[in-house]
Amino acid sequence: MVSSGSKIFLVAGARPNFMKIAPILSQLRGRTSFRPVVIHTGQHYDNDMSQAFFRDLELSPPDVNLKVGSGRQAQQTGQIMREFERVVLKAPPDLVMVVGDVNSTVACSLVAAKMHIPVAHVEAGLRSFDRRMPEEINRVLTDAVSNYLFTTCTDANENLLREGIPSERIFFVGNVMIDSLLKFREKSTGSSIVERLGLRRRGYGLITLHRPSNVDEVGKLRGILRAMEIIQRHLPIIFPIHPRSRKMLQHFKLEGEVARISGLRLIDPVGYIDFLRLMDLAQLVFTDSGGIQEETTVLGIPCLTLRENTERPITVREGTNLVVGTNPDRIVQETQAILELPNRRPRRPKLWDGRAAARIVNVLLKTMHPSKVSKIRRKG
Ligand code: UD1
Ligand code: UDP
Repeated sequence: MVSSGSKIFLVAGARPNFMKIAPILSQLRGRTSFRPVVIHTGQHYDNDMSQAFFRDLELSPPDVNLKVGSGRQAQQTGQIMREFERVVLKAPPDLVMVVGDVNSTVACSLVAAKMHIPVAHVEAGLRSFDRRMPEEINRVLTDAVSNYLFTTCTDANENLLREGIPSERIFFVGNVMIDSLLKFREKSTGSSIVERLGLRRRGYGLITLHRPSNVDEVGKLRGILRAMEIIQRHLPIIFPIHPRSRKMLQHFKLEGEVARISGLRLIDPVGYIDFLRLMDLAQLVFTDSGGIQEETTVLGIPCLTLRENTERPITVREGTNLVVGTNPDRIVQETQAILELPNRRPRRPKLWDGRAAARIVNVLLKTMHPSKVSKIRRKG
């Protein structure tokens, strides 16, 4: 147990982290028992990969920015560790909270664990069982050193128990990314991005790509682009391109080829509100993103995941996701099947209800400030 006003470092570094910390921050700020401090590692730094999300999610700027920038795996992870350790040494927090599976997640959890500071991992227990993904290594290591493991689905609880994590550390709370989606969906109806791009509602496909296994391998990248070239003959496709993928298109000298595909339109990455609108009005989505598999499930938009596996099988079992791999013929066939028989029923896996962050903060309150909880109960 710690004294009242526990200081919590809430860590975010890359695009998918911002929509995850936003609802948690708002819940923590609503309780006098906690003093949240937002630490941005600077893993993502372009305006359209970082600041745009603070604006769209109505977040104030981070309290601390470690400004680490890009680098190879070890370089970036090591740099985050060094900078984060400096901040922790200056004013140690009572808890470090990390989200997701990016390098910032594992780097800050390792630093905290070695300094004997409790770690909370939000979105714990997801497993693709593919150790060639840097994210899978980040997930396993972060979970191994975490004291609180907050999960989005019961599959994740089972994965953690199988790895020997004590059950009393695991809390099935739901999905904070969906907290943000449900909060901001209404606001996204004010976005005119679909009209600005000259697209028709339900008359376009949306694609995002950034996994190294897809975009750093020229054969895979070409294959996916070949599939898009065939599909765009029937359905325009909009492609907000991740900076990593833009860089790889240049590296492989594929830009000219892509520019000649008239129905495949590349644009810069878009902000959260515009992206929600683009997903919500699409006919279907192609992606290798983790978060987008979950968001399309809740929006009821068919999602073709261009990977061989997923760490989010619940979106396939209960949602609109189909893991189709990267074979161009298969991508085209599955797309045809969806266009012929659209199925847009929105699905909500258990506890993806907009209240995951509140559950997380309740767990923290009960365990870090049990006296406050009993006072609330007595008052009630
Ligand atoms: C990272 C995460 C991945 C997550 C993705 C979300 C890891 C190992 N990977 O992948 O799990 O799904 O973010 O988008 O943590 N770049 C820019 N500007 C930026 C950021 C990156 O130009 O603001 C370019 C740089 O050339 C950089 C490359 O993108 O080298 C890759 O960035 P990095 O953060 O290393 O990995 P991502 O592919 O973005
Ligand atoms: N997203 C966005 N603009 C884009 C692409 C994605 O706002 O141009 C949002 C998307 O809605 C989701 C998050 O970014 O909330 C997913 O991030 P990303 O795909 O980069 O990472 P992953 O989820 O794969 O880790």
